Amino acid sequence: MKTTQAVNAASLFVKSILVGGLLAGSLQTFAAVELDDASRAEIVERIQPMGHVCKIGEDCANGAAVASASSGPREPEAIFNQYCGACHNSGLLGAPKVNDDASWNARLQAAGDFTGLLNNAINGIKAMPPKGTCMDCTDDEISATITYMSKLKP
Ligand code: HEC
Repeated sequence: MKTTQAVNAASLFVKSILVGGLLAGSLQTFAAVELDDASRAEIVERIQPMGHVCKIGEDCANGAAVASASSGPREPEAIFNQYCGACHNSGLLGAPKVNDDASWNARLQAAGDFTGLLNNAINGIKAMPPKGTCMDCTDDEISATITYMSKLKP
């Protein structure tokens, strides 16, 4: 009697390991299917460090940050593509989309004026990180980039 019970308990144990393994396996498959290239790229973008030091002559930040050190303000389009587009192209995390006039006008009203929008972009607001992660952007560069994506003017 004792032996049967032990055998039963042992087989139950083995079964639960099998079922657990199957479950874990299918969950993994599910997660793998869910991620397409676009969302994977977005995740990589999101988990990047907020900033890194890019020394002159080094091949980092596509040379953009290095070039700006000596040649004045960067083009708003370049800043947008490098820093803001990850969220503002698709509306990720509820970001107002580039050229979505209705959203931008509503935001302008909520913030009071362009300066309100600018301050929120510089300081960060809810899921929007300070300076949209462009930590070496000047206030003027942020301002010009907001105009680029919203068509709103200071
Ligand atoms: C990590 C995602 C992300 C990045 C990168 C990002 N934004 Fe945003 N942004 C958001 C989100 C989310 C909101 C909406 C926040 C809210 O819920 O009010 C937002 C809102 C804004 C607003 C409106 C603020 C307001 O008062 O309503 C401005 C302006 C803005 N972003 C500018 C920028 C600029 C300029 C850049 C690039 C330099 C940038 N963002 C990069 C996510 C991002």
